[in-house]
Amino acid sequence: MKCAAIIAAAGSGERFGAQIPKALIQLGDRTLIEHAVGALAPVATQIIITAPAGYEDQIRALVGNGIDVVTGGATRSESVRNGLALVASDIDYVLVHDAARALATTRLAQEVLAQLESGEKAVIPGLEQIDTVKVVDASGYVVATPDRKELRRVQTPQGFSRQLLVDAHASHSDATDDGALVESMGVKVKVIQGEERALKITTSADLSIALSYLGRASEFRSGVGVDAHTFVQGKPLWLAGIEWPDEIGVEGHSDGDVAAHAICDALFAASGLSDLGINFGVNRPEYAGASGAQLLKETLAMITKAGYIISHVSVQVIANRPKLGPRRIEAIAALSNALGGASVSLLATTTDGMGLTGEGKGIAAIASAAIFKDSTHSR
Ligand code: CTP
Ligand code: MG
Repeated sequence: MKCAAIIAAAGSGERFGAQIPKALIQLGDRTLIEHAVGALAPVATQIIITAPAGYEDQIRALVGNGIDVVTGGATRSESVRNGLALVASDIDYVLVHDAARALATTRLAQEVLAQLESGEKAVIPGLEQIDTVKVVDASGYVVATPDRKELRRVQTPQGFSRQLLVDAHASHSDATDDGALVESMGVKVKVIQGEERALKITTSADLSIALSYLGRASEFRSGVGVDAHTFVQGKPLWLAGIEWPDEIGVEGHSDGDVAAHAICDALFAASGLSDLGINFGVNRPEYAGASGAQLLKETLAMITKAGYIISHVSVQVIANRPKLGPRRIEAIAALSNALGGASVSLLATTTDGMGLTGEGKGIAAIASAAIFKDSTHSR
């Protein structure tokens, strides 16, 4: 019997609040979507990912060939329908999984599948309900208190016989899980024991919990880096990994990208690998004119060799100009790309005409980096 997996990854991750879709958030050494694919690949002959519009190619590049990537819809159910349309004709069972439940195990998927193979039509994992749950009305008054013992917090992967799932979605209804659509057709839905580690990563606190399942939570290190350069006529401006036409460039041994350099120093500070001046400074002529992206790549290679993985970097540019806002996404993509897809935040501020760069003589940047030790790394 053949099984396909649809991984819903088209959400924007609004509650998480990152500048990239949630499925592309880094958890340990991989993004959430890569974790989810890794868990389902051993059980599914076909994997279909529903991607956020505009991120299809980025996801294709991450997960490699042999996986179908389709643009998601406005709701989760719509995204699943977009995926369902691609399921190959010889498939018997379909697993629907949330990329946000990145740490659900292969074993859980196998158990769902085993139940389908033994004759169940719809199988969903669930955990017992710990808190007492109240049903409330629109004014905030309690209407009912369901018996906690009868409640389950349900998860994914949820498994269905293929035709049943197709029928359930034929109504084009919306629900927060597929089990609900099947249930509303009057079909029996079997709940099996879920996994704590299959939690849905919704906020950064959830990401910390997920990280603790990877056994790496106690090895975080952080670092701060600062860089500043003065404006100089006749040089192109490179800032935050991109070129800024019509802006004045800055002095510097390399391309003068203060945002990239501040990030390099923050990474060196966190990993204890000296600093930018020593690693790429004026006594290293091979780095004269080097791009910010090149220095970020080399810094990443150095900290990777030392056994560290980037959790997140954040950089704030302090300057009267250029205005970063309109090109923020592009700059974040360039920085993240140079850092192997790491999560990056980019902010900008002026200093009200005071101190630092307020006199308009140049550009400065302050960065911070959070990294952790790769527990699988051996020196
Ligand atoms: N999802 C999807 N298509 C949508 C909305 C959500 O494929 N239109 C996916 C998400 O990518 C996620 C899963 O459904 O893997 C569960 O959704 P949720 O955890 O709510 O993720 P987001 O919608 O991204 O988060 P938020 O609600 O905070 O924006
Ligand atoms: Mg959502």
